Amino acid sequence: MVDQLLPTPPVATTPEAPVMIARALSRHYSVSRGLFKGHAMVKALNDVSFELARGRTLAVVGESGSGKSTLARQLTLIEEPSGGSLQIGGVEIAGASRAELRALRPTVQMVFQNPYASLNPRKQVGAMLAEPLRLNTTLSAAEREERVRAMLAKVGLRPEHYQRYPHMFSGGQRQRIAVARAMMLQPRTVVADEPTSALDVSIQAQILNLFMDLQDELGTAYVFISHNLAVVEHVADEVMVMYFGSTVEYGDKAAVFERPLHPYTRALMSATPAIHKEDRQIKLKLVGELPSPLNPPTGCAFHTRCPFAAERCRAEVPVLRPFEGRLVACHRVEEI
Ligand SMILES: Nc1ncnc2c1ncn2[C@@H]1O[C@H](COP(=O)(O)OP(=O)(O)O)[C@@H](O)[C@H]1O
Ligand SMILES: [Mg+2]
Repeated sequence: MVDQLLPTPPVATTPEAPVMIARALSRHYSVSRGLFKGHAMVKALNDVSFELARGRTLAVVGESGSGKSTLARQLTLIEEPSGGSLQIGGVEIAGASRAELRALRPTVQMVFQNPYASLNPRKQVGAMLAEPLRLNTTLSAAEREERVRAMLAKVGLRPEHYQRYPHMFSGGQRQRIAVARAMMLQPRTVVADEPTSALDVSIQAQILNLFMDLQDELGTAYVFISHNLAVVEHVADEVMVMYFGSTVEYGDKAAVFERPLHPYTRALMSATPAIHKEDRQIKLKLVGELPSPLNPPTGCAFHTRCPFAAERCRAEVPVLRPFEGRLVACHRVEEI
């Protein structure tokens, strides 16, 4: 049905082709150190690679400051990467024309953490949801209303909500509105950046289930960002663990959750009581804080907090390499 709504994507994609391919994607920011102190480079995202297939969920997990939102802004074309390659629907972003980018933008939508900030307070819900259709399709006003009403029902809202303003809703309902808005153009991919983190725990599961029901029905692929491994275990097909802007472990959910191998992944797991099984592995405690991006560590970025750090870890950056059915970036993974 998307083909009726949108300009034809520049390159035809087969159903099996990944909806998104990132290769060594990086984003560096130049920041001022203060008056007369010049500029420094913050390497917020370094060489991140993945493939996302239609209808699948890649969960991206890591502490605050690990580069997750920076990744989200590259994938949704809000920013331009500093390096690497990003293909969306078979089109390389770096060389794309304006017309190609315009056609691709509606195919990747974003849901933000805070539904209060992301919804326009002066717009009725119906008008807000109709807007993407007004801007991107030739549907009549009546057809737009019909689609909006159908989408309200799909996300669990009631017909009378059509005329209401965002402030009249609870946090969970507002996130339903934000999800509905993201889905209006039937995007191939939705990037959700901590979409349940601002909600009451009792509401979180409902919103996660909404995401999963919509995926079943519409075949949308998700890049689902969360710092909460219990959430990730619920939604993910594949899991990417990020630390200090880089991927430290990446693989199928089953592999990563059954036997996390990177010391950072193991520490995150240990810190999540809901999923930590006592007999699974020795508990690893996460000590200290993320290093300052203005003063990055040498070698492995995790060595300052890693109980297994050795000389080599302080000197040499580990590459992401295959080990036991997933990718891990750790010099000592064979020994520990
Ligand atoms: N626009 C920016 N300018 C400078 N530094 C930034 C910018 N955006 C993010 N950063 C830095 O990049 C790092 C990663 O941030 P972010 O992607 O927000 O992490 P996360 O979403 O995982 O918490 C942080 O050190 C952050 O301060
Ligand atoms: Mg973030």
